[in-house]
Amino acid sequence: MPEPPVMSRLEVLRDPAVMQTRALAWRRAGRRIGLVPTMGYLHPGHISLVRLAREQADVVVVSIFVNPTQFGPREDFATYPRDFARDLELLGAEGAITVFAPEAAAVYAPDASVQVCEERLASCLCGATRPGHFRGVLTVCAKLFHLALPDVAAFGRKDAQQLRLIEQMVRDLNFPLAILPGPIVREPDGLAMSSRNVRLPAAHRAQATCLHRALRTIEQAAARGERRTAALEALLRATIATAPDARLEYAELRDWHTLAPAPAQWHAPTLAALAVHFGDVRLIDNTLLTAS
Ligand code: PAF
Repeated sequence: MPEPPVMSRLEVLRDPAVMQTRALAWRRAGRRIGLVPTMGYLHPGHISLVRLAREQADVVVVSIFVNPTQFGPREDFATYPRDFARDLELLGAEGAITVFAPEAAAVYAPDASVQVCEERLASCLCGATRPGHFRGVLTVCAKLFHLALPDVAAFGRKDAQQLRLIEQMVRDLNFPLAILPGPIVREPDGLAMSSRNVRLPAAHRAQATCLHRALRTIEQAAARGERRTAALEALLRATIATAPDARLEYAELRDWHTLAPAPAQWHAPTLAALAVHFGDVRLIDNTLLTAS
C-alpha cells in the first residue's frame, strides 16, 4: 500500500470527550502521547515544539484553542490572529498529528467554578500587569492534560514565566507527565517568533529588534564578568530606549526558580525578561543567564 498523502494523516477532533476517549485508547495500547498546546496561528517556533514532542512520543496532539480565560477585558482576544486552514497546512507537513481544536463552549461549562491558581510565581513580570492571565493559562493546561493525557508536553522558552508556572503546577499537583522546554525560535534579525508579530506595522516591526539587541547586550556584558544586577537592568532599559516607539513594561533580572528579584550580584541561573509595547502590540522576550 502506498503511504497516504501527508495531509491525510492529520486528524481533527473538536469534542473534548472524543479527545479523552482517544487518548485513553492510546494509553491502553501502550503508546506514548506528546502534547503541544497552542493558540494557533502557528509559526516555526510551534513546529519546533511539534518536532520536540515527536522525538519522545508515538502520538502527537497539537491543541489549537484561543483560550478566552487568559485574556483580560482590555486585551487582544478579539484581534488575536487566527487562521485554522493555514495551521492545518503547516501541520500537514509534519506527518501524523491529531489536532484538538475545541469550541470554548465545549471546554468551559457555563457554571464552571474550579480553577488552578498560583500566587507566588504568577504575581510578578507578566502577572503583575495581566491579573488572572496565569490562572487562565494553568486552568486550560490542566484541562488539556486531562483530555489529551500526555506523557510529555512541549512549551516554548519564550513564555518563560508560563513555562516556569506549568512546571510548578505539574510538580505541585502531581501530573504524571514531563515538560519539554523548547528553545526560542527567532526571525533572521533576532525578533523572537510570536503569533502577535503579524500585528506589528512595518515601522514597529523594524524597531522590535531592540528586545533581542538588549538581551544580547547583557549576555555579552555578563560574559565579560558584569555581576551587578542593576547594571544589567540599566543596559536593558537603555537599549529599549533606542527604539523611539517602544514603551517598556518591564526589564528585570529574576531568579529562574523562584522568580524573586535577582540579588544585587546576580548568580546563575537568572532570567532576564522584557515586556515591551509597540502601539497595542505587546512583545515579550528573555534570556537565561547561566554563567558569568
Ligand atoms: O502559550 C500559549 O500559546 C498559551 O498560553 C497556551 C499554553 C496554549 C495556553 O492557552
